[in-house]
Amino acid sequence: MIDLRSDTVTRPTAAMKQAMMDAELGDDVMGEDPTVNCLEAMVAELLGKEAAVLACSGTQSNQMGVRAHCVSGDELLINDTSHIGIFEAGGPAVLSGVTVRQIPGARGMLNVSDLEGKPRVDDQHYCRTRLLCLENTTNIAGGFVYPLQQLQDVSDWARSQDLKLHLDGARFFNAVVAGGYSASQMASCFDTISICLSKGLGCPFGSILVGSADEIRLARRARKMFGGALRQSGMIAAAAIYALENHVDRMQQDHDNAQRLANGLAEIDGISASAENTETNLVFFEVDSELGTAVQLASALRERGVLIGAMGGQRLRAATHLDVKDSDIEVVVDAVRDCAVSGFEQQQLVGAGPYSK
Ligand SMILES: Cc1ncc(COP(=O)(O)O)c(C=O)c1O
Repeated sequence: MIDLRSDTVTRPTAAMKQAMMDAELGDDVMGEDPTVNCLEAMVAELLGKEAAVLACSGTQSNQMGVRAHCVSGDELLINDTSHIGIFEAGGPAVLSGVTVRQIPGARGMLNVSDLEGKPRVDDQHYCRTRLLCLENTTNIAGGFVYPLQQLQDVSDWARSQDLKLHLDGARFFNAVVAGGYSASQMASCFDTISICLSKGLGCPFGSILVGSADEIRLARRARKMFGGALRQSGMIAAAAIYALENHVDRMQQDHDNAQRLANGLAEIDGISASAENTETNLVFFEVDSELGTAVQLASALRERGVLIGAMGGQRLRAATHLDVKDSDIEVVVDAVRDCAVSGFEQQQLVGAGPYSK
C-alpha cells in the first residue's frame, strides 16, 4: 500500500529506532530524563525562546498552550478552518473554559484586516478576548505557508491589542522549509509554539510546546492535569533529536513530490488539482461529481493499493511524507487515472469520514 492519507502514518526508521534504544533515560516528571531535557533545551534555543515542554500529541500541546494563556471565561480568535477550533473535540471549552470565535480568512490564514474590531471591549457583558491562534502551515485550508511579513503584521497588531499569540505549528518545519524564513524568525511572532514530532519529522508520537519560562511552567502543570506527564519519555525525545538533525532538510523532497503529484493529477480528465496551490506536502484535489464522490474514489484507489483521504463531498487530500518514495508518485497518478477511465461510481461506500487524518 502507498499511504498518502496523512503525514502521521510514517514509521520510525531503523536509525531512529536505534537512537531510541540508545537513549539515556530518567523520570521526566522529576525533571530527570537527560534526553528530554536535552530536546527541550535544543528546541527552545532553535526557536529563540526560554523554555520548552514535551507533550504526547499536537492536540495536547495546543491545549496546554490555550490553558497557559487563558482563564475560564476567556475567548480565543482563530481562522474558521483551524485544527484547534474544529478537530480537538471542543478542547478549549472542556479543558480551559475558553470560547472559540472562528473568523473567516483567505487560505486558512488571518491578516490584520480580518481581525480588526474583533477583540471585545472591556464590558461586563463580554468575555475577555485573550488569545489569537494561527496555524502554519495550514491543514485543511490547503497546506499553505504564511509569508513572514503577514505573521509579523498580525503579531504587531495582536500585541497592540494585548492579545497573546499561539502558533499551531503541527507542520512548523514544512513552513520553515517552504517559507524561506528561519525557525526563530517565525517563533518571534508568537508567545507559544506547538510543533508536532509525529508528522513530517517522522517520530512515532509526540509534540513540543515552546515559550517563555513562565508560560511553559503553566503548560507543564496543564500537561500533568491533562494526564500527559510521562516518565521515561527520553525514548521519544531521542527520536525527536534524531529527526531534528536528519529529517528537516529532506522535507523539500516531500514538497517536490507533492508538486509532481499535483501536476500529474491536473492532467487527468475529471480531476481538478493545482501545483500552484500546492505549497508544501499536502495536495488537495477534487473529483468531478459525474465520476463519483471523494469517498468512492478513495475506495476504488484502496483496491489499487493507494490510500488517500476523502475529505467529504468531492474533495480529497494526499499527504507526501518520509515513507513515500519518489517513484510512488507515478504509481499514484496512474491509479487515479485508471479509476477515472474505468469509472468507480458503483464503488461501495466504506471508511473515510469527513476528515481523514
Ligand atoms: C494543524 C494541526 N494541528 C494539530 C494537529 C494535532 O496533532 P495530533 O494528531 O498529534 O493530536 C494536527 C493533526 O493532524 C494538525 O494537522
